[in-house]
Amino acid sequence: MRLERVAAQVPTGARLADIGSDHGYLPVALMRRGVIAGAVAGEVALTPFHAAERTVRDNGHEQLITVRLADGLAAIEPQDDITAVSICGMGGETIRDILDAGKARLSGRERLILQPNGGEQPLRQWLMDNGYRILSEEVLRENRFYYEIIVAERAGPVQYTAEELYFGPLHMQARSPVFLSK
Ligand SMILES: C[S@@+](CC[C@H](N)C(=O)[O-])C[C@H]1O[C@@H](n2cnc3c(N)ncnc32)[C@H](O)[C@@H]1O
Repeated sequence: MRLERVAAQVPTGARLADIGSDHGYLPVALMRRGVIAGAVAGEVALTPFHAAERTVRDNGHEQLITVRLADGLAAIEPQDDITAVSICGMGGETIRDILDAGKARLSGRERLILQPNGGEQPLRQWLMDNGYRILSEEVLRENRFYYEIIVAERAGPVQYTAEELYFGPLHMQARSPVFLSK
């Protein structure tokens, strides 16, 4: 359910960079469904890197999904023409550090689809500081855990209050039952 909700935020025809792809399920599922035009699956660790390679190969997507052993956004090359970046299943601080260290690899036209496990506040702070507007926020509960999904795009200066950075500006407006319960 968590990755399904992330998948729902990837635009049709996107060229996706899935950073910290692990098993590579997200780009492979999206390619099987015909949602994305191409993808890079980035992994910093050898065992998940090999797992992603295997998933891509078993599904016959080697031509359209490139698996790279790389730290963070170093997996992205200019010729990949990436239009969406997903970074999921890590702490918000780790996601922030990956974005900050790899800023130079972003054109600013990519949609960021982020699924932090905690540490949402510092991640939202980075988005604000770097001119990213939060377009969608979702919180879901699965196996006793709450998971947040934050979607953002570069849109020029944006200002959030301390409360909005902590709780999420769109959560504060929508006040969904699962957000209130979290
Ligand atoms: C818990 S898994 C999440 C996998 C998948 N994204 C998901 O949401 O199901 C986190 C993965 O991120 C990878 N990772 C952590 N830091 C990374 C970095 N700096 N660059 C690339 N991958 C990283 C880890 O090796 C691990 O495979």
